Amino acid sequence: MSGIYFDHAATSPMRPEALEAYVAAAGAGPGNPSSLHAFGRAARSRLTRARDEIAGVLGCRPDELVFTGGGTESDNAALFGAARAMRARDGRRLGVVTTAVEHHAVLHACRALASEGFELTVLPVDETGRVSLEDARAAIGPTTAVVSVMAGNNEVGTLQPYAEIGELARAHGAVMHVDAVQAFGYEPIDLSALPVDLLSVSAHKMGGPQGVGALYVRTGTPWQPLLYGGSQERKRRAGTENVAGIAAFAAAAKLAAAEREARRAHAETVRGALIRALTVELGADAFALNGEQRPESRLPHIASIVFYDVPNETMLMSLDLAGVAASGGSACTSGSLQPSHVLEAMGLASHFCRQAVRFSFGLGNTTAEAEKTAKIIATITTRLRNR
Ligand SMILES: Cc1ncc(COP(=O)(O)O)c(C=O)c1O
Repeated sequence: MSGIYFDHAATSPMRPEALEAYVAAAGAGPGNPSSLHAFGRAARSRLTRARDEIAGVLGCRPDELVFTGGGTESDNAALFGAARAMRARDGRRLGVVTTAVEHHAVLHACRALASEGFELTVLPVDETGRVSLEDARAAIGPTTAVVSVMAGNNEVGTLQPYAEIGELARAHGAVMHVDAVQAFGYEPIDLSALPVDLLSVSAHKMGGPQGVGALYVRTGTPWQPLLYGGSQERKRRAGTENVAGIAAFAAAAKLAAAEREARRAHAETVRGALIRALTVELGADAFALNGEQRPESRLPHIASIVFYDVPNETMLMSLDLAGVAASGGSACTSGSLQPSHVLEAMGLASHFCRQAVRFSFGLGNTTAEAEKTAKIIATITTRLRNR
């Protein structure tokens, strides 16, 4: 496909090294890693190598990783698994604490837990999209079962103080879950040093294949599986592992870790080029950036931008026609864009929420693409204004 792809937070192109690892594993012949024969043992050894490599990147023990079908499954497994296990230990532990800007994989799972009788607290955020430690401190207590706070937001990029909140959770004996799906590969994550019990990652956000992820489960964490059946993943996730996908995930994760600073700098450069070019082409008054803007407090690869007076559906369709892929920064349900719950939680007026476009950057993008996109946006806005 040709065109300009500024939707890396939705999914990133698979890195050639990951594709190579996928093809090598998938083409290596049959072999179920649970089978005892030589074919099975060969598949098991590929799986073991990939597990060791990803554990090395995350700073955890290989047996603390449970491979899943992606970020959504990891989040659901984390929340249902920890909440139910905590309730089973102590019937008074019914509190589930999360934030208003989580991905729906977390928020909707939390709502489902509330319908099971858990007591849900959704922490508000400020206008940058960050949750306050004071609010977290007030919400977390001796009856809290699980706390779930994302590392970096997928719509606006704002980083959360998840390590500090993890300390609060730990002080009250609650399980701490972190959705690191967007942050993994951009932010340093060393699980040996973090007060985090469960952590979700997904391969396709960092150059690996879609439909593969992992949940880190710290040894000793009260947690029960979501899927039952075979004894794969040490009975923590039944179902034959996606060996080729996991091998590719490991290849992408190793590269992302080795090149983290270069990837960060590159994403930041393209992001900056887009914003500068928009200022030149449209004027600084024609658009506004949403969320945290200080580089040290946000992910480098996401920019959420309101284009004043231009409905985001129109903007996205026009961009698509011009060969530029971006996103509404909101869930696309049955073809129509819903106003983003993240921007709403940040207090953005609803008409601005409907004018917000998310651009997300990654390997392969260039500053020339950013400049071309700004010109295309200028043409689109002029055309709409003259209509
Ligand atoms: C923060 C966050 N969590 C979870 C997910 C879900 O991941 P997956 O697409 O692998 O199911 C996403 C995907 O956009 C995400 O951005």
